[in-house]
Amino acid sequence: MSRLLVTGGAGFIGANFVRYWLEHHPEDRVVVLDALTYAGNRSSLPPEDERWRWVEGDVVDRAGNEQLLREEEIDTVVHFAAESHVDRSIESPQRFVEVNVVGTNALLEAVRRVWGESEEGGLSPTPRRFHHVSTDEVYGSLGPADPPVREATPYAPNSPYAASKAAADHLVRAYFETYRLPVTLSNCSNNYGPYHYPEKLIPLFIVNLLEGRELPVYGAGINVRDWLHVEDHCRGLEAILLRGLPGETYNVGSRNERTNLEVVEGLCDAVDRAFAAEPELSKHFASAPPAAGVPSRSKIHFVKDRPGHDLRYAIDPSKLERELGWSPRVEFDEGLAATVRWYLDHERWWREILGRGGYRGWIARQYGRPSEL
Ligand code: NAD
Ligand code: DAU
Repeated sequence: MSRLLVTGGAGFIGANFVRYWLEHHPEDRVVVLDALTYAGNRSSLPPEDERWRWVEGDVVDRAGNEQLLREEEIDTVVHFAAESHVDRSIESPQRFVEVNVVGTNALLEAVRRVWGESEEGGLSPTPRRFHHVSTDEVYGSLGPADPPVREATPYAPNSPYAASKAAADHLVRAYFETYRLPVTLSNCSNNYGPYHYPEKLIPLFIVNLLEGRELPVYGAGINVRDWLHVEDHCRGLEAILLRGLPGETYNVGSRNERTNLEVVEGLCDAVDRAFAAEPELSKHFASAPPAAGVPSRSKIHFVKDRPGHDLRYAIDPSKLERELGWSPRVEFDEGLAATVRWYLDHERWWREILGRGGYRGWIARQYGRPSEL
Protein backbone atom coordinates (compact mmCIF):
# COMPACT_ATOMS: atom_id res chain seq x y z
CA MET A 1 0.00 0.00 0.00
CA SER A 2 1.28 3.45 -0.93
CA ARG A 3 0.42 6.84 0.53
CA LEU A 4 0.43 9.44 -2.21
CA LEU A 5 0.55 13.23 -2.02
CA VAL A 6 -0.76 14.66 -5.29
CA THR A 7 -0.09 18.39 -5.64
CA GLY A 8 -2.25 20.31 -8.11
CA GLY A 9 -4.82 17.49 -7.97
CA ALA A 10 -7.72 19.86 -8.72
CA GLY A 11 -6.23 20.88 -12.07
CA PHE A 12 -6.75 19.23 -15.45
CA ILE A 13 -4.14 16.45 -15.40
CA GLY A 14 -4.00 16.17 -11.60
CA ALA A 15 -7.75 15.49 -11.35
CA ASN A 16 -7.59 12.92 -14.12
CA PHE A 17 -4.65 11.29 -12.35
CA VAL A 18 -6.44 11.17 -8.97
CA ARG A 19 -9.47 9.58 -10.59
CA TYR A 20 -7.25 7.10 -12.46
CA TRP A 21 -5.27 6.19 -9.35
CA LEU A 22 -8.32 5.68 -7.11
CA GLU A 23 -9.83 3.41 -9.76
CA HIS A 24 -6.71 1.34 -10.44
CA HIS A 25 -5.09 1.28 -7.00
CA PRO A 26 -7.97 0.91 -4.54
CA GLU A 27 -5.61 -0.11 -1.72
CA ASP A 28 -3.69 3.19 -1.75
CA ARG A 29 -4.36 6.43 0.12
CA VAL A 30 -4.35 9.70 -1.84
CA VAL A 31 -3.95 13.17 -0.34
CA VAL A 32 -4.58 16.10 -2.70
CA LEU A 33 -2.85 19.41 -1.98
CA ASP A 34 -4.10 22.27 -4.14
CA ALA A 35 -4.24 26.05 -3.75
CA LEU A 36 -7.41 26.29 -5.87
CA THR A 37 -6.14 28.99 -8.16
CA TYR A 38 -8.32 30.00 -11.13
CA ALA A 39 -7.30 26.68 -12.76
CA GLY A 40 -8.28 24.44 -9.83
CA ASN A 41 -11.73 22.90 -9.48
CA ARG A 42 -13.09 20.85 -6.62
CA SER A 43 -15.82 19.71 -9.01
CA SER A 44 -13.22 17.92 -11.16
CA LEU A 45 -12.64 15.49 -8.29
CA PRO A 46 -14.97 12.79 -6.97
CA PRO A 47 -16.62 13.30 -3.56
CA GLU A 48 -14.10 12.89 -0.72
CA ASP A 49 -14.22 9.52 1.06
CA GLU A 50 -12.06 7.48 3.44
CA ARG A 51 -9.59 6.67 0.62
CA TRP A 52 -8.69 10.22 -0.26
CA ARG A 53 -8.36 13.56 1.50
CA TRP A 54 -8.67 17.11 0.22
CA VAL A 55 -6.25 19.74 1.58
CA GLU A 56 -6.38 23.33 0.36
CA GLY A 57 -2.88 24.76 0.59
CA ASP A 58 0.01 26.32 -1.27
CA VAL A 59 3.12 24.30 -2.20
CA VAL A 60 5.21 27.42 -1.57
CA ASP A 61 4.52 26.89 2.17
CA ARG A 62 7.42 24.62 3.16
CA ALA A 63 6.33 24.21 6.77
CA GLY A 64 2.81 23.30 5.67
CA ASN A 65 4.23 20.74 3.24
CA GLU A 66 6.36 19.23 6.02
CA GLN A 67 3.42 18.96 8.38
CA LEU A 68 1.29 17.21 5.78
CA LEU A 69 4.07 14.78 4.82
CA ARG A 70 4.52 13.79 8.49
CA GLU A 71 0.84 13.67 9.37
CA GLU A 72 -0.06 11.46 6.41
CA GLU A 73 3.19 9.46 6.37
CA ILE A 74 3.51 10.13 2.66
CA ASP A 75 5.86 7.83 0.71
CA THR A 76 5.08 9.01 -2.84
CA VAL A 77 4.79 12.59 -4.06
CA VAL A 78 3.37 13.32 -7.52
CA HIS A 79 3.98 16.99 -8.20
CA PHE A 80 1.61 18.54 -10.74
CA ALA A 81 0.99 21.91 -9.04
CA ALA A 82 2.08 24.73 -11.32
CA GLU A 83 1.00 27.79 -13.18
CA SER A 84 0.60 26.12 -16.56
CA HIS A 85 -0.73 28.55 -19.17
CA VAL A 86 1.89 29.99 -21.56
CA ASP A 87 -0.25 33.04 -22.47
CA ARG A 88 -0.71 33.95 -18.78
CA SER A 89 3.06 33.62 -18.26
CA ILE A 90 3.58 36.17 -21.02
CA GLU A 91 1.18 38.56 -19.30
CA SER A 92 2.65 38.16 -15.78
CA PRO A 93 5.69 35.89 -15.30
CA GLN A 94 6.28 36.57 -11.57
CA ARG A 95 3.73 34.08 -10.25
CA PHE A 96 5.22 31.39 -12.51
CA VAL A 97 8.58 31.78 -10.80
CA GLU A 98 6.96 31.78 -7.36
CA VAL A 99 4.87 28.64 -7.87
CA ASN A 100 6.86 26.61 -10.38
CA VAL A 101 10.37 27.34 -9.10
CA VAL A 102 10.07 28.43 -5.45
CA GLY A 103 7.08 26.11 -4.88
CA THR A 104 8.90 23.09 -6.29
CA ASN A 105 11.91 23.88 -4.14
CA ALA A 106 9.71 24.26 -1.02
CA LEU A 107 8.23 20.84 -1.70
CA LEU A 108 11.61 19.22 -2.39
CA GLU A 109 13.03 20.72 0.77
CA ALA A 110 10.09 19.53 2.89
CA VAL A 111 10.43 16.02 1.46
CA ARG A 112 14.20 16.01 2.04
CA ARG A 113 13.73 16.97 5.68
CA VAL A 114 10.86 14.61 6.49
CA TRP A 115 12.19 11.57 4.63
CA GLY A 116 15.70 12.32 5.87
CA GLU A 117 14.55 12.06 9.49
CA SER A 118 13.49 8.43 9.19
CA GLU A 119 16.55 7.54 7.10
CA GLU A 120 18.65 8.32 10.18
CA GLY A 121 16.84 5.57 12.05
CA GLY A 122 17.46 3.03 9.30
CA LEU A 123 16.04 2.26 5.89
CA SER A 124 12.44 3.22 5.29
CA PRO A 125 10.19 0.12 5.10
CA THR A 126 8.45 1.48 1.99
CA PRO A 127 10.24 2.61 -1.15
CA ARG A 128 9.83 6.34 -1.65
CA ARG A 129 9.45 8.48 -4.72
CA PHE A 130 9.24 12.16 -5.61
CA HIS A 131 7.85 12.40 -9.13
CA HIS A 132 7.99 15.74 -10.92
CA VAL A 133 5.59 16.32 -13.82
CA SER A 134 7.18 18.50 -16.46
CA THR A 135 6.69 19.48 -20.07
CA ASP A 136 8.19 19.12 -23.54
CA GLU A 137 8.32 22.93 -23.70
CA VAL A 138 11.60 22.93 -21.74
CA TYR A 139 13.38 21.62 -24.87
CA GLY A 140 12.31 24.67 -26.87
CA SER A 141 11.13 24.93 -30.44
CA LEU A 142 12.01 22.47 -33.23
CA GLY A 143 12.42 23.23 -36.93
CA PRO A 144 10.29 21.29 -39.43
CA ALA A 145 13.04 18.72 -40.15
CA ASP A 146 14.47 18.29 -36.63
CA PRO A 147 14.17 14.87 -34.99
CA PRO A 148 11.79 14.61 -32.00
CA VAL A 149 13.35 15.49 -28.63
CA ARG A 150 14.89 12.78 -26.46
CA GLU A 151 15.68 12.89 -22.74
CA ALA A 152 19.27 14.03 -23.49
CA THR A 153 18.20 16.92 -25.76
CA PRO A 154 19.56 20.16 -24.22
CA TYR A 155 17.08 22.51 -22.59
CA ALA A 156 16.21 25.71 -24.48
CA PRO A 157 12.99 27.11 -22.98
CA ASN A 158 11.49 30.15 -24.69
CA SER A 159 8.42 31.31 -22.71
CA PRO A 160 8.47 32.39 -19.05
CA TYR A 161 6.33 29.30 -18.34
CA ALA A 162 8.81 26.95 -20.03
CA ALA A 163 11.76 28.68 -18.34
CA SER A 164 10.15 28.28 -14.91
CA LYS A 165 9.47 24.57 -15.56
CA ALA A 166 13.06 24.10 -16.76
CA ALA A 167 14.36 25.71 -13.56
CA ALA A 168 12.16 23.39 -11.49
CA ASP A 169 13.42 20.34 -13.44
CA HIS A 170 17.03 21.34 -12.69
CA LEU A 171 16.24 21.64 -8.98
CA VAL A 172 14.66 18.19 -8.93
CA ARG A 173 17.73 16.68 -10.61
CA ALA A 174 19.97 18.56 -8.19
CA TYR A 175 18.17 16.99 -5.21
CA PHE A 176 18.92 13.57 -6.67
CA GLU A 177 22.58 14.31 -7.34
CA THR A 178 23.19 16.16 -4.08
CA TYR A 179 20.92 14.45 -1.54
CA ARG A 180 20.08 11.17 -3.33
CA LEU A 181 16.40 12.02 -3.02
CA PRO A 182 14.63 9.26 -5.02
CA VAL A 183 13.25 11.44 -7.79
CA THR A 184 11.90 10.73 -11.26
CA LEU A 185 10.91 13.29 -13.91
CA SER A 186 8.62 13.13 -16.91
CA ASN A 187 8.41 15.59 -19.79
CA CYS A 188 5.10 15.30 -21.56
CA SER A 189 3.60 16.78 -24.71
CA ASN A 190 0.23 18.59 -24.99
CA ASN A 191 -2.58 16.76 -23.20
CA TYR A 192 -6.28 16.84 -24.03
CA GLY A 193 -9.38 15.21 -22.54
CA PRO A 194 -11.97 15.71 -19.77
CA TYR A 195 -11.77 18.46 -17.10
CA HIS A 196 -9.49 20.64 -19.28
CA TYR A 197 -9.83 24.29 -18.25
CA PRO A 198 -11.59 26.16 -21.10
CA GLU A 199 -8.77 28.59 -21.65
CA LYS A 200 -6.43 26.16 -23.49
CA LEU A 201 -6.86 25.54 -27.22
CA ILE A 202 -9.11 22.45 -27.40
CA PRO A 203 -11.59 23.14 -24.56
CA LEU A 204 -11.72 26.89 -25.36
CA PHE A 205 -12.62 26.15 -28.95
CA ILE A 206 -15.26 23.56 -28.00
CA VAL A 207 -17.07 25.96 -25.65
CA ASN A 208 -16.65 28.83 -28.12
CA LEU A 209 -18.38 26.73 -30.79
CA LEU A 210 -21.19 25.68 -28.47
CA GLU A 211 -21.73 29.35 -27.62
CA GLY A 212 -21.50 30.47 -31.26
CA ARG A 213 -18.25 32.43 -30.84
CA GLU A 214 -15.29 32.63 -33.20
CA LEU A 215 -12.22 30.39 -32.98
CA PRO A 216 -9.15 32.64 -32.58
CA VAL A 217 -6.23 30.76 -34.18
CA TYR A 218 -2.90 32.47 -33.45
CA GLY A 219 -0.80 33.46 -36.48
CA ALA A 220 -1.35 31.22 -39.49
CA GLY A 221 -2.20 28.08 -37.46
CA ILE A 222 0.99 26.36 -38.65
CA ASN A 223 2.49 25.68 -35.20
CA VAL A 224 2.81 21.99 -34.46
CA ARG A 225 1.97 20.30 -31.16
CA ASP A 226 2.22 16.59 -30.28
CA TRP A 227 -1.13 15.66 -28.71
CA LEU A 228 -1.58 12.95 -26.07
CA HIS A 229 -4.82 11.90 -24.38
CA VAL A 230 -4.67 12.64 -20.65
CA GLU A 231 -5.50 9.03 -19.76
CA ASP A 232 -2.43 7.85 -21.70
CA HIS A 233 -0.40 10.39 -19.70
CA CYS A 234 -1.82 8.96 -16.45
CA ARG A 235 -0.83 5.44 -17.56
CA GLY A 236 2.66 6.73 -18.34
CA LEU A 237 2.94 8.27 -14.88
CA GLU A 238 1.78 4.99 -13.36
CA ALA A 239 4.50 3.09 -15.27
CA ILE A 240 7.15 5.54 -14.02
CA LEU A 241 5.92 5.43 -10.41
CA LEU A 242 5.81 1.64 -10.37
CA ARG A 243 8.80 0.73 -12.54
CA GLY A 244 10.85 3.90 -13.17
CA LEU A 245 14.36 4.25 -11.80
CA PRO A 246 15.36 7.01 -9.38
CA GLY A 247 17.28 9.82 -11.05
CA GLU A 248 15.77 9.06 -14.48
CA THR A 249 13.78 11.26 -16.84
CA TYR A 250 11.12 9.84 -19.18
CA ASN A 251 9.58 11.61 -22.17
CA VAL A 252 5.85 11.01 -22.64
CA GLY A 253 4.19 11.51 -26.03
CA SER A 254 2.38 9.62 -28.74
CA ARG A 255 4.07 10.66 -32.02
CA ASN A 256 0.91 12.55 -32.91
CA GLU A 257 2.11 15.81 -34.45
CA ARG A 258 -0.56 18.13 -35.83
CA THR A 259 -0.62 21.75 -36.88
CA ASN A 260 -3.02 23.85 -34.85
CA LEU A 261 -5.15 24.32 -37.94
CA GLU A 262 -5.44 20.54 -38.39
CA VAL A 263 -6.48 20.17 -34.75
CA VAL A 264 -9.07 22.94 -35.01
CA GLU A 265 -10.50 21.62 -38.27
CA GLY A 266 -10.74 18.12 -36.76
CA LEU A 267 -12.49 19.59 -33.74
CA CYS A 268 -14.98 21.50 -35.92
CA ASP A 269 -15.79 18.33 -37.85
CA ALA A 270 -16.23 16.34 -34.62
CA VAL A 271 -18.72 18.95 -33.35
CA ASP A 272 -20.60 18.92 -36.67
CA ARG A 273 -20.81 15.11 -36.60
CA ALA A 274 -22.14 15.12 -33.03
CA PHE A 275 -24.87 17.62 -33.98
CA ALA A 276 -25.78 15.66 -37.13
CA ALA A 277 -26.16 12.46 -35.09
CA GLU A 278 -28.27 14.06 -32.36
CA PRO A 279 -30.83 16.68 -33.47
CA GLU A 280 -31.63 17.56 -29.83
CA LEU A 281 -28.23 19.27 -29.59
CA SER A 282 -29.30 21.93 -32.10
CA LYS A 283 -32.20 22.90 -29.83
CA HIS A 284 -30.06 22.96 -26.73
CA PHE A 285 -27.02 24.75 -28.20
CA ALA A 286 -28.98 26.95 -30.60
CA SER A 287 -26.08 29.41 -31.17
CA ALA A 288 -23.65 26.69 -32.33
CA PRO A 289 -22.99 26.90 -36.10
CA PRO A 290 -24.30 23.39 -36.96
CA ALA A 291 -27.61 24.29 -35.27
CA ALA A 292 -28.11 26.77 -38.15
CA GLY A 293 -26.77 24.34 -40.75
CA VAL A 294 -23.45 26.22 -41.00
CA PRO A 295 -20.16 24.26 -40.80
CA SER A 296 -18.21 24.93 -37.62
CA ARG A 297 -15.09 25.59 -39.70
CA SER A 298 -16.71 28.91 -40.74
CA LYS A 299 -15.87 30.18 -37.23
CA ILE A 300 -12.08 29.83 -37.74
CA HIS A 301 -10.54 33.26 -37.45
CA PHE A 302 -6.81 34.13 -37.58
CA VAL A 303 -5.63 36.55 -34.90
CA LYS A 304 -2.34 38.16 -33.79
CA ASP A 305 0.31 35.55 -33.00
CA ARG A 306 1.52 34.64 -29.49
CA PRO A 307 4.86 36.44 -28.80
CA GLY A 308 7.77 33.98 -29.10
CA HIS A 309 5.34 31.28 -30.28
CA ASP A 310 7.30 28.00 -30.47
CA LEU A 311 6.92 26.56 -33.96
CA ARG A 312 7.03 22.85 -33.24
CA TYR A 313 7.16 20.34 -30.38
CA ALA A 314 7.71 16.66 -31.03
CA ILE A 315 8.64 14.11 -28.43
CA ASP A 316 10.39 10.75 -28.73
CA PRO A 317 8.84 8.43 -26.10
CA SER A 318 10.90 5.36 -27.00
CA LYS A 319 12.69 5.18 -23.61
CA LEU A 320 9.35 4.92 -21.77
CA GLU A 321 8.12 2.35 -24.29
CA ARG A 322 11.30 0.27 -24.28
CA GLU A 323 12.25 0.37 -20.60
CA LEU A 324 8.87 0.53 -18.86
CA GLY A 325 6.58 -1.15 -21.38
CA TRP A 326 4.25 1.83 -21.82
CA SER A 327 2.47 2.67 -25.06
CA PRO A 328 -0.35 5.12 -25.81
CA ARG A 329 -3.78 3.61 -26.42
CA VAL A 330 -6.04 6.49 -27.47
CA GLU A 331 -6.11 7.29 -31.17
CA PHE A 332 -6.35 11.07 -31.70
CA ASP A 333 -9.56 11.33 -33.79
CA GLU A 334 -11.39 9.03 -31.38
CA GLY A 335 -10.00 10.90 -28.37
CA LEU A 336 -11.05 14.23 -29.87
CA ALA A 337 -14.59 12.98 -30.57
CA ALA A 338 -14.79 11.62 -27.01
CA THR A 339 -13.58 14.97 -25.65
CA VAL A 340 -16.27 16.85 -27.60
CA ARG A 341 -18.80 14.38 -26.20
CA TRP A 342 -17.51 14.99 -22.67
CA TYR A 343 -18.04 18.77 -22.98
CA LEU A 344 -21.53 18.21 -24.43
CA ASP A 345 -22.36 15.99 -21.44
CA HIS A 346 -20.74 18.20 -18.76
CA GLU A 347 -22.18 21.60 -19.52
CA ARG A 348 -22.63 22.43 -15.85
CA TRP A 349 -18.89 21.92 -15.20
CA TRP A 350 -17.75 24.39 -17.87
CA ARG A 351 -20.61 26.89 -17.52
CA GLU A 352 -19.70 27.42 -13.87
CA ILE A 353 -16.18 28.41 -15.00
CA LEU A 354 -17.46 30.64 -17.82
CA GLY A 355 -19.51 32.54 -15.22
CA ARG A 356 -16.47 33.44 -13.09
CA GLY A 357 -15.18 37.01 -13.18
CA GLY A 358 -11.58 35.81 -13.42
CA TYR A 359 -12.32 33.76 -16.52
CA ARG A 360 -14.30 36.53 -18.19
CA GLY A 361 -11.55 39.03 -17.38
CA TRP A 362 -8.90 36.79 -18.96
CA ILE A 363 -10.95 36.28 -22.16
CA ALA A 364 -11.55 40.02 -22.40
CA ARG A 365 -7.85 40.84 -21.93
CA GLN A 366 -6.56 38.14 -24.25
CA TYR A 367 -9.10 38.35 -27.05
CA GLY A 368 -10.53 41.86 -26.54
CA ARG A 369 -14.12 40.73 -26.85
CA PRO A 370 -15.94 41.63 -23.62
CA SER A 371 -19.19 42.34 -25.46
CA GLU A 372 -19.43 38.75 -26.59
CA LEU A 373 -19.25 37.30 -23.10
P1 NAD B 1 -3.68 23.22 -14.52
O1 NAD B 1 -3.32 24.66 -14.69
O2 NAD B 1 -4.94 22.71 -15.13
O3 NAD B 1 -3.71 22.85 -12.98
C1 NAD B 1 -2.77 23.30 -12.07
C2 NAD B 1 -3.28 23.00 -10.67
O4 NAD B 1 -2.27 23.42 -9.73
C3 NAD B 1 -4.56 23.73 -10.30
O5 NAD B 1 -5.46 22.88 -9.65
C4 NAD B 1 -4.08 24.83 -9.37
O6 NAD B 1 -5.07 25.24 -8.42
C5 NAD B 1 -2.90 24.16 -8.70
N1 NAD B 1 -1.92 25.11 -8.17
C6 NAD B 1 -1.41 26.21 -8.78
N2 NAD B 1 -0.56 26.86 -7.97
C7 NAD B 1 -0.51 26.13 -6.81
C8 NAD B 1 0.19 26.28 -5.59
N3 NAD B 1 1.01 27.32 -5.39
N4 NAD B 1 0.03 25.34 -4.64
C9 NAD B 1 -0.82 24.29 -4.83
N5 NAD B 1 -1.52 24.12 -5.95
C10 NAD B 1 -1.37 25.03 -6.94
O7 NAD B 1 -2.43 22.41 -15.07
P2 NAD B 1 -2.38 21.03 -15.87
O8 NAD B 1 -2.61 21.30 -17.31
O9 NAD B 1 -3.21 20.03 -15.16
O10 NAD B 1 -0.83 20.67 -15.71
C11 NAD B 1 -0.39 19.95 -14.55
C12 NAD B 1 1.13 19.80 -14.62
O11 NAD B 1 1.48 19.12 -15.81
C13 NAD B 1 1.87 21.14 -14.64
O12 NAD B 1 3.03 20.99 -13.86
C14 NAD B 1 2.22 21.33 -16.10
O13 NAD B 1 3.41 22.07 -16.23
C15 NAD B 1 2.41 19.90 -16.57
N6 NAD B 1 2.12 19.62 -17.98
C16 NAD B 1 0.93 19.99 -18.54
C17 NAD B 1 0.65 19.64 -19.86
C18 NAD B 1 -0.66 20.01 -20.52
O14 NAD B 1 -0.81 19.78 -21.74
N7 NAD B 1 -1.64 20.54 -19.80
C19 NAD B 1 1.61 18.94 -20.62
C20 NAD B 1 2.84 18.62 -20.00
C21 NAD B 1 3.07 18.93 -18.68
O1 DAU C 1 3.49 21.15 -24.65
C1 DAU C 1 3.00 20.96 -23.35
C2 DAU C 1 2.30 22.22 -22.89
O2 DAU C 1 1.05 22.25 -23.57
C3 DAU C 1 2.10 22.28 -21.39
O3 DAU C 1 3.35 22.32 -20.76
C4 DAU C 1 1.27 23.52 -21.01
O4 DAU C 1 1.01 23.52 -19.62
C5 DAU C 1 -0.03 23.46 -21.76
O5 DAU C 1 -0.80 24.61 -21.49
C6 DAU C 1 0.23 23.35 -23.27
O6 DAU C 1 0.84 24.57 -23.76
P1 DAU C 1 0.44 25.20 -25.17
O7 DAU C 1 0.83 26.61 -25.18
O8 DAU C 1 0.91 24.33 -26.28
O9 DAU C 1 -1.17 25.03 -25.06
P2 DAU C 1 -2.37 25.95 -25.51
O10 DAU C 1 -3.61 25.13 -25.43
O11 DAU C 1 -2.37 27.27 -24.82
O12 DAU C 1 -2.05 26.21 -27.06
C7 DAU C 1 -1.91 25.14 -27.98
C8 DAU C 1 -1.56 25.75 -29.32
O13 DAU C 1 -2.71 26.48 -29.81
C9 DAU C 1 -0.42 26.76 -29.26
O14 DAU C 1 0.37 26.66 -30.43
C10 DAU C 1 -1.12 28.12 -29.23
C11 DAU C 1 -2.40 27.85 -30.02
N1 DAU C 1 -3.58 28.65 -29.59
C12 DAU C 1 -3.95 28.63 -28.28
C13 DAU C 1 -5.02 29.36 -27.83
C14 DAU C 1 -5.42 29.35 -26.38
C15 DAU C 1 -4.32 29.37 -30.53
O15 DAU C 1 -4.01 29.35 -31.73
N2 DAU C 1 -5.37 30.10 -30.08
C16 DAU C 1 -5.76 30.15 -28.78
O16 DAU C 1 -6.74 30.86 -28.44
